[in-house]
Amino acid sequence: MAVKFLKPLADASQFPAPSVTATPKFRLSDLDLAQHTQGDVRETTFTRNGRGAIGIAGTALRKENVNNVILIPAYHCPALVEPFIWLGYEIRFYPVQADLSVDIAVLEQAMAKGDITHCVVVRYFGFGQNNDEVIQFLHTQSVEIIEDCAHSLFRFVDHFADSGKRVPDVSASICSINKILPTIDGGALYLKDKYEAKLTHVGWSEEAKACAFIVGIPQMLAKVKSLVNQSKPEQVPQISDPAEEDAHLRYFQPIDLASASYRHTKTIFCHSNLKHIRKQRRENFEFIVKNIDNPEVGNALFKQLNDEDIPYVIPFLLQDEKYFFDLRKKGIQILRWEEVAISDCNISQDYRSRLIQVPCHQQLSNRQLNFIVDTFNQLRP
Ligand SMILES: Cc1ncc(COP(=O)(O)O)c(C=O)c1O
Repeated sequence: MAVKFLKPLADASQFPAPSVTATPKFRLSDLDLAQHTQGDVRETTFTRNGRGAIGIAGTALRKENVNNVILIPAYHCPALVEPFIWLGYEIRFYPVQADLSVDIAVLEQAMAKGDITHCVVVRYFGFGQNNDEVIQFLHTQSVEIIEDCAHSLFRFVDHFADSGKRVPDVSASICSINKILPTIDGGALYLKDKYEAKLTHVGWSEEAKACAFIVGIPQMLAKVKSLVNQSKPEQVPQISDPAEEDAHLRYFQPIDLASASYRHTKTIFCHSNLKHIRKQRRENFEFIVKNIDNPEVGNALFKQLNDEDIPYVIPFLLQDEKYFFDLRKKGIQILRWEEVAISDCNISQDYRSRLIQVPCHQQLSNRQLNFIVDTFNQLRP
C-alpha cells in the first residue's frame, strides 16, 4: 500500500523568531583543534544529510530479484521514510509503544509471513529504548538491520571508539550531524560491507560561501547595510542547495545520494569537544526535567537518563496540543513530528500532535534554561 504522510499541523511563519533555538549555533571557541574525535572515523562516509546516508544504505543493501520489503517504525519523520520510497522498497510500518519501545512479540508477528528483507531500528531523541533487544531479536531473522542514530550521534561515534573494535552488529548505521553539532549540513554512514558511494563535494567557492555563512559574515553585512540605508533589514542570502526539487517527496532529494557533506562539516565533527557536549546535554536535560512541575500541561516521556543516553531533545507529552502553540509563541523552538504516515499505530497518530521536542542543547545559558522551565510552569489550562 502506498505511504501517505499526514499534512503539517502548523507552520513556522505563525510564530515569532525563537529566542531559544532547537539546535546550537557555530562558535569558533567551541572547537578544539588540538583534539580529535575519539575513535576511528575512517569507516565513516560523510554525506550531505541523514536522509542521504539512509538512501545510500538502502541502495547498497537492496537485494536483486526479490521484492524488497522494509519494516519501519510507525513513529517517524518523512525524511527517514522517503529514501526507501524513492528506491522502490515496499514499506510496512510496525507500531511503537507509549515509551517508544518496541513490543518484540508484535514485531515477530509483523515478520511472520517471512517476506521482510530489511528492518529499521530508531534510537529516538538520543535514548536507547529497548533497541539492543530488538537488534538481538532481528539477528534471529534473515533481515538487513539499518540502525537510525540520526538523534544519537554519540552512539554512532561510540561504535568506532577503541579504533573500530566495537563496530555495530548491524548492516548499516546512520546519523545526522547538524542535529547535535553546529553545522549547516551533514550525515554520517557506516556500512558493514564495503560499498563505494561516489560522493561529490561542492566546489571551493561554494565551500567558502558556506564557511562565511556559518561564522555569520553575510548576516553581519546585511545588518550593516540595512543600518546604513536606514531601511528594513535585508534578506540574508541563503546557501544555495544544488538539489532539484522532486515534486513527490518533501524532504529527500535524489541528489542527496551523490552529495558529500561540506568539507568543514567533517572538521567540526572531528574537532568538537564531544566530552563537554555529552555532559552539558545531560545536565540540561536533568535541570529541565527536574524543575518543570506542571502535570496539567504534561510530562517528560523519560524522567531519567541511562548511562548511555545523551539527549538530542527532551520528548515531552502534552495533555493538550494547544500548549504547543503557547510555547512556540513564547519563543521556544519546540519541534514535533506532525507528518507521520497514516498507520494502525494509535500512539504514533496521537504523538504527532502531543509529543513535543524541547531543546536541551549544549549552548543553552542558565537564563534560557530558567526561561524554558518558567514558561512551562506558568502555562495554565
Ligand atoms: C529519526 C530520523 N532519521 C533520519 C532523519 C534524517 O536526517 P537529516 O535531516 O539529516 O536528513 C531525521 C531527521 O530529519 C530523523 O529525525
